[in-house]
Amino acid sequence: MTNQELRQKIEYHNLLYYQKNKPEITDAEYDILKQKAVELGEEIEVGSELDSRFGKVKHSEPMLSLGNAYNEQDIEKFITKVKKLLNVSKLEIMCEPKVDGLSFSAVYEDGRFIKAATRGDGDYGEDITKNIATIKDFPQVLSGIKDRLEVRGEAYIRNDDFLKLNENNDFANPRNAAAGSLRQLDPNITANMPLKYFAYSLLGGEEKTQDEVLNRLEGLGFCVNKHRFLAKSVDEMLQFYNGIYNCRCNLGFDVDGIVYKMNDLKLHSKLGSTNRAPKWAIAHKFPAAYGKTKLEKILIQVGRTGVLTPIAKLTPINVGGVIISRASLHNYEEIKRKDIREGDIVVVARAGDVIPHIVEVDKDSRLPNAPKFIFPEVCPECGSRIEKVDGETAIRCSGEFTCKAQIIEKLKHFVSQEAFAIIGLADKQIEFFYDIGLIQQIPDIFTLEEKLKEFDLEAYNGWGKQSIANLLNSINSRKTISLDRFISSLSIRFIAQGTAKLLAKHYVFFENWQNSMMKLQCYESFSELMSIDGIGEKTAESIRSFFSNQQNVNMLNNLVSHLNILPVDNNKRSSALSGKIIVFTGTLKMSRDEASNKARSMGAQVSSSVSSKTHFLVVGQNPGSKHKKAVELGIKILREEERLSLVANS
Ligand code: IVH
Repeated sequence: MTNQELRQKIEYHNLLYYQKNKPEITDAEYDILKQKAVELGEEIEVGSELDSRFGKVKHSEPMLSLGNAYNEQDIEKFITKVKKLLNVSKLEIMCEPKVDGLSFSAVYEDGRFIKAATRGDGDYGEDITKNIATIKDFPQVLSGIKDRLEVRGEAYIRNDDFLKLNENNDFANPRNAAAGSLRQLDPNITANMPLKYFAYSLLGGEEKTQDEVLNRLEGLGFCVNKHRFLAKSVDEMLQFYNGIYNCRCNLGFDVDGIVYKMNDLKLHSKLGSTNRAPKWAIAHKFPAAYGKTKLEKILIQVGRTGVLTPIAKLTPINVGGVIISRASLHNYEEIKRKDIREGDIVVVARAGDVIPHIVEVDKDSRLPNAPKFIFPEVCPECGSRIEKVDGETAIRCSGEFTCKAQIIEKLKHFVSQEAFAIIGLADKQIEFFYDIGLIQQIPDIFTLEEKLKEFDLEAYNGWGKQSIANLLNSINSRKTISLDRFISSLSIRFIAQGTAKLLAKHYVFFENWQNSMMKLQCYESFSELMSIDGIGEKTAESIRSFFSNQQNVNMLNNLVSHLNILPVDNNKRSSALSGKIIVFTGTLKMSRDEASNKARSMGAQVSSSVSSKTHFLVVGQNPGSKHKKAVELGIKILREEERLSLVANS
């Protein structure tokens, strides 16, 4: 199967799963497809396209997913990192079962239930107001509530109800049944489904801790999972995890792990989120199945950004009903840490939606003279020097512009569904055009028509007038592209779809983005980039390095000369701070990060310097030169309290 075929297959199964709630393959089989894609270096966006038959609802705050942890060390690492970030020695962690259903948000105005939505793509969900309203025990009215309150939770179906329901249906599992029940156009159908739910978060309340939130939700009449525990140490977290793991068959509903959350809600805004997941919570997944097999060989794959990824080729084995023949080895550090060697007998695990990974090595069965695995010293594909970046575990091939594997992977990514979606340029064709010298770098795709005037492509097997015309049509029809897709097509390290969206939203126009990226050696541009929520130093450095290379800059200039890159329409938000550029100065009552996170969550752009584009300057104690500049430019100046009331009233 080619990368494109694999991608299409995954998209097909995504459609069946997310939109039709009628998967044709098991979760396990789907995992294997996803694993293959990851092994091939494809980044598959997991999540759902919105079903256009439902109304579209903008979430007041994105509905994120959670980072995953699989073992004790992952949890230790998470807690240590949070303590370090917060500079504290003690933490209180709320532990809650991660119920395997469908997440929803429900909005109340002045105590009346007015809207509910699915998670959708995280920013927008599908309108399921009437369907949620049919769930038994779902409060329609909350007494004594003023203003807006939003409740988030998980809708699910109990295992016994699922079995009964499936006597006349063929849902794959309770989660699909829940999704199928909730995403019905006719709420009367939903009303007859045995849907249940647990509420787990509250937006717009005054609670200070997650514990208080859960109690308040209970007090308001929502169903809240009674299994929860406030842990004060990693040991206590693991105790709760093991307790639920051991009794999960008695719970009556599917639980696929434990969610650990910082109990103190102040810490949520202090820690913030990446563009996918909050930094204040993590999901500790339950292992699903184990198997023991032989690791035949360690293969090294070169990805589109040059990262060398080791993959374990296994003697095929059945793990929980699925044949596994490959496992991820993540990186060299992982091989070293677990002392994994070729020929070893290893324990592999599969859990939920996770790529199989190696849990441990059976060292007793190892031959005494088995050599340690030596990571190649040059790129196995092109022989270039390999480099290790300080502070990163990844090892990369340095031949960015000479490594055939890297160039071809970049080209494949560029034409893929996630980027330019050029039909007719599948992996095989990219390799073919590269080998015959017609497409050796990205802009060549758009000069193909010109080159073909002097090249007899029809002399090659499989190419005729019609297929050539189709291909050129397809290329020409893709010359207009949105800025976020364009950015994510470039294979800049750490810039996949999510990050590209953040950049596009911030810089709006291609020229604006390019100009700013060309100046990343200047403090101002660099700190503006870093001020975007979800952009960290590694990402910023990666972009700087991309733009500091003249070959990339030339390629980019050449490429854009063929394209029409559409700016981002940021005018969709509706708070008083929506789309406004805001700058902070002086000592604020909140921490600067907290204030910035708040402003961004209201749709504002936070900038580090005052310019004529600035809409508001928020001043704390002892403001400095920014204040003076803002006065000179006539920019609206707010005291911190005023900003808060602006936020509250919007
Ligand atoms: S907290 C920012 N708590 O797990 C996300 N999520 O990957 C905060 N889930 O589909 C989510 N039980 O709906 C949270 N007790 C719980 C949960 C829970 C299930 C689901 C959630 C989402 C997924 C997160």
